[in-house]
Amino acid sequence: MRIFLAPMEGVIDHHFRTLYSAIGGVDICVSEFIRVNDVAVSKKVFLRDCPELQHASFHQQRFSATPNGTPLRVQLLGSNPETIAASAVTAVNLGASAIDLNFGCPAKTVNKSRGGAVLLKDPQLVGEIVRQVRAAVPSERPVTAKIRLGFEDRSLYMDNALAIAEGGATELCVHARSRADGYHPPAYWSYIKKIVEEVSLPVIANGEVWTVDDWRRCREQTGCQDVMLGRGLIACPDLALQIKAAAAGQRYQAMSWSAVMQLLNQFYCDTKAAYPSRFLGNRVKQWLFYLQMHYPEAKVLFETIKRYRQAQEFEAVLGLPLASAAYE
Ligand SMILES: Cc1cc2nc3c(=O)[nH]c(=O)nc-3n(C[C@H](O)[C@H](O)[C@H](O)COP(=O)(O)O)c2cc1C
Repeated sequence: MRIFLAPMEGVIDHHFRTLYSAIGGVDICVSEFIRVNDVAVSKKVFLRDCPELQHASFHQQRFSATPNGTPLRVQLLGSNPETIAASAVTAVNLGASAIDLNFGCPAKTVNKSRGGAVLLKDPQLVGEIVRQVRAAVPSERPVTAKIRLGFEDRSLYMDNALAIAEGGATELCVHARSRADGYHPPAYWSYIKKIVEEVSLPVIANGEVWTVDDWRRCREQTGCQDVMLGRGLIACPDLALQIKAAAAGQRYQAMSWSAVMQLLNQFYCDTKAAYPSRFLGNRVKQWLFYLQMHYPEAKVLFETIKRYRQAQEFEAVLGLPLASAAYE
């Protein structure tokens, strides 16, 4: 069984990938989407968005990975097969462990410029993008795809899955909802099972796995061994470890709030220098927004700090008295 850390634009960046791969349980990370227009993406953009690529050559396998060696796949989004393929080659030459193609983003601005979920209306184009990227990227580097079940409805889910398989993809991640379904529960896991039965590709199940019980039901209903976790893992930092323990039949002591506080503390320190001071603490507030779904303490902390702007304020509640002097 493999557990993937989902790509989440504006949420799961390299800071989060580093933190989460260190917590454990995550086997593979996927970058936030990188947009490809009619010009291929430059090295500079890849290195900015996926700093893990800078260290690709330090890892034994010589591919992009977080500092503890968890492989990073680079996700591309666009509709021009030639420039996506050229961008994929650049990413692979920089050391991307795999290329993932985004056919699921629901954002209006992205869909308007023919990227993400809107492409699911055109399985032929989806297949062509996969085919050209597969042809351009050395065969030892996986080319994978991530789809939703459709755009306005779920009628083309199988056509898209088949087109991706015929295009030569290595594996397929399915977020079990159409764009029209948004992020509203439920996720329609039974569609994933049909894909698993029809398509000869390894399939990764995704959508609405918040607990070990959700994972059990998802596995039963999809038949998938592999799962991708997004919001559930952000809300519960050791969910991947809990699932791994459950899969191995081992007892597991869930992460305490004080352990989460240490992670928050670490995250604050990791991110504070990365943003202009007017955004100080925003990443911690964003994470707390998700954590409060799992930890009541996070709700209290969120209410306390939501209007904070000053380093001393944050650092006092996060237990960082020494850091404040250095930062001011
Ligand atoms: C804020 C946000 C940003 C996302 N960004 C991406 C992205 O860049 N690429 C992508 O393939 N999916 C993206 N997704 C979708 C997630 O990867 C995932 O498919 C979805 O959240 C369902 O999984 P979950 O229920 O485990 O969160 C995003 C989702 C959210 C909520």
